[in-house]
Amino acid sequence: MKTDQHKQEDVQDYQAILESIEEAVQPCFGKGRVANYIPALGQVSPNKFGMTVRTARGECFSVGDANEPFSIQSISKLFVLQLVMSQLGDVVWERVGKEPSGDRFNSLMKLELEHGVPRNPFINAGALATLDLLMSLSGDTRERILNYMRYLGLNKTISSNATVVNSELEHAHINRAMIHLMKTYGCIDSDPEELIATYCYQCALEMSCMDLATAGLPLAMDGYSPLHGDTVLSGKQNKRINAVMLTCGMYDSVGSFAYRVGLPAKSGVGGGILAVVPGELSVAVWSPELDKSGNSYVGTAALEMFTSMTHASIF
Ligand code: DON
Repeated sequence: MKTDQHKQEDVQDYQAILESIEEAVQPCFGKGRVANYIPALGQVSPNKFGMTVRTARGECFSVGDANEPFSIQSISKLFVLQLVMSQLGDVVWERVGKEPSGDRFNSLMKLELEHGVPRNPFINAGALATLDLLMSLSGDTRERILNYMRYLGLNKTISSNATVVNSELEHAHINRAMIHLMKTYGCIDSDPEELIATYCYQCALEMSCMDLATAGLPLAMDGYSPLHGDTVLSGKQNKRINAVMLTCGMYDSVGSFAYRVGLPAKSGVGGGILAVVPGELSVAVWSPELDKSGNSYVGTAALEMFTSMTHASIF
């Protein structure tokens, strides 16, 4: 229970808070590195910074490059998981676990030891297994994902960047190795090339901080979106997704992220992080330089400042 002094929503001036964070993060630039293992991502300016807060009341506060679309990469795994859970229910938990891996997001090590069953849906292997399930449904999976993101983000211009897709496809040898390993264990049904191409498509979706905060708001609202006037996820599904975000969303930095920020969150190597304050708000931040775990260096610092200033950590 938060004390009155710590009470959030009605006493916070989020615009002023975001503006002071934008200023305070300036010394953090130059300490991380822009992802270049997908060459097209290396073209992005390292100095970008945007941040958006969406409150339960539907208010929106932004600073910096918050309207500029960027490559959401692994943040897409969160929404594909939502889509699979809403279309197919709990069957996904027969294909992936719910435990943090403690390894890098694209590690192959535990996958062989654990017979092709990924630790969780957010590491690459788990996201591939989750997407494989979605591909078992009839219809065009790419279109299904795109329509879902446009609906959740309330933005019909959201699209996937073909240059980024092709750039990743040319270098996706580790992800292909995961697919083949899982297929050998009978854990993947789709054609491997179709699966990797669809995965690269979802990762290359481009959204702004505004779009992401909008798409993430239901996760803070027990699955209900006040912006859509609609329920996106059941309360039970929402609780589970937030739990897996909290324990697995930031890969092998999940412990230090909980220590520093204290919110369920999902990152991507494009430099985005989407976090939620249950019952209160969603917050999206973007800055392309990454730490050693592949999470935005400046974005993590910004979220740490945010929860320190607003007392919004769940802990
Ligand atoms: O599969 C990959 O390596 C990328 N398309 C996504 C990885 C990613 O975003 C990890 N997140 N921090």
